[in-house]
Amino acid sequence: MSVLQIPFEDAFRFDPSPTFAELRENQPVARVRTLAGAEVWLVTRYDDVRMVLADPRFSRAAVVKQGAPRVALAKPMPNSLTTTDPPEHTRLRKLVTPTFAHRRIERTRPWVAELSAQLAEDVARAGDGADIRQLVALPLPIQVICQLLGVPYEDRERFREWTELGYSMKMAEKDLVEDAMTNLTAYIENLVTKKLANTDQPAEDLLDELVRAREEGDRLSQDELIAFGVNLLVAGHETSANQISSCVATLLRWPENWAKLVADPSLVPSAIEELLRFNRFSEVGQLRVAVEDVELHGVQIKAGEGVMAALNSANRDPRAYDEPDELRLDRQDNKHLSFGFGPHFCLGAQLARIELQESLLALVRRFPRMSLAKPAAELEWRRVLVSGLAELPVNLGLEGLEGLEG
Ligand code: HEM
Repeated sequence: MSVLQIPFEDAFRFDPSPTFAELRENQPVARVRTLAGAEVWLVTRYDDVRMVLADPRFSRAAVVKQGAPRVALAKPMPNSLTTTDPPEHTRLRKLVTPTFAHRRIERTRPWVAELSAQLAEDVARAGDGADIRQLVALPLPIQVICQLLGVPYEDRERFREWTELGYSMKMAEKDLVEDAMTNLTAYIENLVTKKLANTDQPAEDLLDELVRAREEGDRLSQDELIAFGVNLLVAGHETSANQISSCVATLLRWPENWAKLVADPSLVPSAIEELLRFNRFSEVGQLRVAVEDVELHGVQIKAGEGVMAALNSANRDPRAYDEPDELRLDRQDNKHLSFGFGPHFCLGAQLARIELQESLLALVRRFPRMSLAKPAAELEWRRVLVSGLAELPVNLGLEGLEGLEG
């Protein structure tokens, strides 16, 4: 069996590589070599991706074992939600589930909506050529996670740089990646230490809650506490920021879609689900390590081997979707896998939905005639693990509009 290099050559752009469709049809369990030099299996069909993500024979804890295959340049962090299996994982997840529960997180919606409206005004002030990534997609989720977690917003430049490097897919940055992760961990450790020293002055944030849970005797080690902080800070802004840009860009790429939402903003929730399905999330797949031998489509996956579940490919599988390459803003019963599946299903899914819906609503209302300031094909993509645009310059189409409204 030939071994393909992943990310594929035609990665880091709008449309998924045609190699995914080819593999889904002809080689549903394919052999690929990752940037870190590991050979792993890649599954590309919807049902197989769900199976790998939910089946206990495929482990996340084994990803941090000595000699485990690696996908990215950065080493995964042990003791975190993303590197444990049940029952350890269940114990950790229970500590944060209440904060992210649907009803509780919905309470942030009015605040996120207000923030989105303010950011839309920043865009209006910047005028034509305004960069939606810098003015909305990054500041919105960063402010939200800082507030929720109890991380000072003034420190954003520093943790942004470490996150950016930590996710890098550029071989040239290999050495910087390790340093960035060390700095990020030390930064969170410092915050946790400060909070531990001030438990008599509780703050209303998640990191503080976790510190208190530890003080009150919940089984939570110092390493687990720090891993929570790093994990939530990074996962809590990077993916949302990329998806906000991708959603706006995909809509503007075919302007009739923007017009549809302007005419009927009640379409926004279903449009966001469809955009999450349609947009790419990562150039690779979610890694698991087999803990026993498994046979899949005639391929023997041996214990200890890595398996990547390609979410983007699953989301375009014609076995799961009618006309998967068509963007239908009112698509119903859309069980996309962009937030994963099984025990590691995205903890922040509802928060991300609120951020995506409210930022889009604010932009659609404020700029009904917004358009791309550059042809879609010329927009620059970042070479990082989580797919996203490096820039999103737009023209606002405000000329004459204010006069009409007045
Ligand atoms: C559009 C934005 C987002 C997308 C597309 C996304 C996607 C995902 C996916 C696919 C996973 C599962 C990974 C796997 O199974 O290997 C995941 C897990 C996770 N996400 Fe998100 N995410 C987003 C936003 C957020 C936000 C805002 C938070 C905020 C706290 C967050 C926190 C997490 C955490 C903590 C996990 C690990 C859960 C676990 O292992 O139990 N995510 N996310």
